[in-house]
Amino acid sequence: MAIAIMCSGGDSCGMNPAIKSFVDYCYEKQEEPYFIYEGFEGLIDNKIKKAKHKDVAGILHLGGTIIKTSRSKRFFEKKYRQKAYENLKSHDIDKIIVLGGNGSFEGLHVFAQEFEISFVGIPATIDNDIYGSDYALGVDTALNIIKSALDDIRDTSASIRKAFVVETMGRDCGYLAAISAITSGAEICVIPEIKTDFDSLEKKLKDELKHGREYILAVVSEGSKQTNDLVSWISNKLKIETRSIVLGHIQRGGNPTVFERLMANEFVIYSVDKLLEEKTQSVIVYKNSKFKFIDIKKISNKKQKINKKILEQLGKMTK
Ligand code: F6P
Repeated sequence: MAIAIMCSGGDSCGMNPAIKSFVDYCYEKQEEPYFIYEGFEGLIDNKIKKAKHKDVAGILHLGGTIIKTSRSKRFFEKKYRQKAYENLKSHDIDKIIVLGGNGSFEGLHVFAQEFEISFVGIPATIDNDIYGSDYALGVDTALNIIKSALDDIRDTSASIRKAFVVETMGRDCGYLAAISAITSGAEICVIPEIKTDFDSLEKKLKDELKHGREYILAVVSEGSKQTNDLVSWISNKLKIETRSIVLGHIQRGGNPTVFERLMANEFVIYSVDKLLEEKTQSVIVYKNSKFKFIDIKKISNKKQKINKKILEQLGKMTK
């Protein structure tokens, strides 16, 4: 029986290094690796092929995923999951690794209840919201991209003495915004997890502006849906001309960081070993610098919360 790898949901940096480690390690273990192309959509359409060493040559430094990914609506229907299972069986695949986020693991959870399939989900989402995991593939690269953007924006912001509101990604989670605001020293950070105290911010920033502050850097998470409101608030209350920038999908691309590459390799080695050792339906997580497996049932419908210490630090900084 064979083992396959696929991506699902939004792409994230670290997927390609993970795919490379998967192929290399499977051959080392004398296992036959397969690729499932285009996520669950490709699984339904039988886009499955044996993976060769040459497929993964020269991909370590690439963002995105060479095997493509998708958000599949069809996978929510039983008849298509049945088709997906039959396609796996037709290739003698009984073990899969899925690189993805919460939506993908939700799909896997349903699949696991219906069919005899062993799998490990590897957290791969820049949102960093996988329950039980401190980190997901793509997060480190995204944070570094945001850091460079904020450094650049600060240069111009300081020169032209304006305020900038920078929106980071994160569907419902403010992790990227929180870490970026702390590490880039933003004056304002708005995320869905905490209620911003606008009154005290107004007092503090007005005072700073009176005493010579010349620009303001605000980081806002996509998930807070407050980007436009924040632009109006800064210009109306603080009387400083304000621009906004949505960083968008730039945060998902680019060259995977060293950390991402190392973590991709670790995630894959542990996951392949687990699948070769026993039947499992789990997600591998990285918690307190250790890897562990959590049963898919325990992950389902749960979201990771931002660490309390990070929220406290952010609270102090932006008050
Ligand atoms: O889940 C990752 C993510 O990049 C979110 O931060 C964002 O809300 C969403 O995907 C964007 O999705 P899409 O690429 O489908 O527009």
